[in-house]
Amino acid sequence: ATATRALFMLFGATGDLAKRKLYPSIFNLYKKGYIDQEHFALIGTGRREWSDDKFHEVIVESVKDNAESEDEAKGFASHFYYMSHDVTNPEHYDALSEYANKLDDKYDIQGNRIFYISMAPNFFGTVAKNLKAHNCLSDNGGFNRLIIEKPFGRDYESAEELNNALGKSFNENQVYRIDHYLGKEMVQNILALRFGNPLIEGIWNNKYIKNVQVTLAEKLGVEERAGYYDGAGALRDMIQNHTMQMLSILTMEDPVSFKDVDVRSEKIRALRSMRIYSPDGVRENFVRGQYGKNGDQADYRHEDNVPENSNTETYVAGKVMFDNQRWANVPFYIRTGKMLADKFTRIDIVFKKPLIDIFAASGKQEGDLQNNVLTLFVDPVNKVILHLNGKKAGQGMEMQPLDLTHVQSDAEKAATPEPYERLIHDAILGDATNFASWDEVGRAWKFADVIRNVWDHDQPAFPNYTPGSMGPKAADELLARDGNEWIKK
Ligand code: BG6
Repeated sequence: ATATRALFMLFGATGDLAKRKLYPSIFNLYKKGYIDQEHFALIGTGRREWSDDKFHEVIVESVKDNAESEDEAKGFASHFYYMSHDVTNPEHYDALSEYANKLDDKYDIQGNRIFYISMAPNFFGTVAKNLKAHNCLSDNGGFNRLIIEKPFGRDYESAEELNNALGKSFNENQVYRIDHYLGKEMVQNILALRFGNPLIEGIWNNKYIKNVQVTLAEKLGVEERAGYYDGAGALRDMIQNHTMQMLSILTMEDPVSFKDVDVRSEKIRALRSMRIYSPDGVRENFVRGQYGKNGDQADYRHEDNVPENSNTETYVAGKVMFDNQRWANVPFYIRTGKMLADKFTRIDIVFKKPLIDIFAASGKQEGDLQNNVLTLFVDPVNKVILHLNGKKAGQGMEMQPLDLTHVQSDAEKAATPEPYERLIHDAILGDATNFASWDEVGRAWKFADVIRNVWDHDQPAFPNYTPGSMGPKAADELLARDGNEWIKK
């Protein structure tokens, strides 16, 4: 491992994400030697008045499960410094800058700085602007990188405004926009499977593929996040970011190399060929849902902190088309929702049947040939299944499914870093392959905005699906109309 010297400046250090994901991830990188153990410090900021001691307790608590001993956790925590900070107060940034320089000297960090903004999105731009204006960026040859959490805007306009605000302090190549789906093992594996296998890439087009289905299903409701969620909805929360990112990886052409610039430019090209619907196109090709009541489970409108007349969608299904040579006429069906039957993310690639079924034609076949399906299971279990047709043992020519399955082993699972650990690691190395570039994010907003606009004007018939189901009926009809059906019912 290359051990990188780094000073982190984390905005949102008292937050839930920091405790659950960021500290354990940074700890693992420190332990594995990716972060230089001698030359590392983190300044955490938040509104609360915390002492360094209190901060250290929180750090120890959040990493202790991964630590060999309490001493190891404490040793790690000793690199953490807390500063109470009001993000709108310019003077506070002067203090931060001074503190950063002091710690840089103390740990001989040589100017490598990672700014991580994980707080209420309305402050993203303010923080970024002030960092530069108040000399928080180093200027002695080290790197300055900004990691920024989602949501990146709430429509194209606000995203562009945010992007311009970031642009005043950081160049595009210094900005790392988090989409944690890009840190998932199976999402990264899509590129390996596609571009490492002529067998797969050779049939990855409209000649062989009938349709593609991407499902991000959640069993839980909005829990205690209704305050945020009700103002966002599933389209913004799951489609504009995670689903669009997966679609771009599924549809992109082969990049010139596996460098971030090359991968990103192909993803952008793919997203640019994604058809943006007219309002009528939206009504025809997108379905929204909101869950109703089921036994003890309250309907969405009666969840805590949700207004009783909320029209926020907790479910989205849609048909996405890519107008290019490779994908013309292949529907990409996407769906996501809260309170569904189960928690899983999967991609089903449905292949066409042979043009002529010689077995049936000769009258010797019992049973139909099924569509070949390649299923990539992203979560919770990492596996790949290729569903083929085969012959049933015995006399005659009876067909039966023949599945080729690869399941991630326990050893592989143990070697798989959490998305946040992987992404922070990439940012430390300056590799932006698994982060969303502005052009990708902007394009995804343009796609989502037309849907949002229609939905903000048309009155929905909510609630329209039962908790524990796979969503509204209209989502099945969307596929049935094309002669297709969801592989995962
Ligand atoms: C987040 C959304 O981005 O992704 C949440 O804000 C959602 O609403 C979560 O629950 C799902 O992520 P994962 O990794 O659990 O599928």
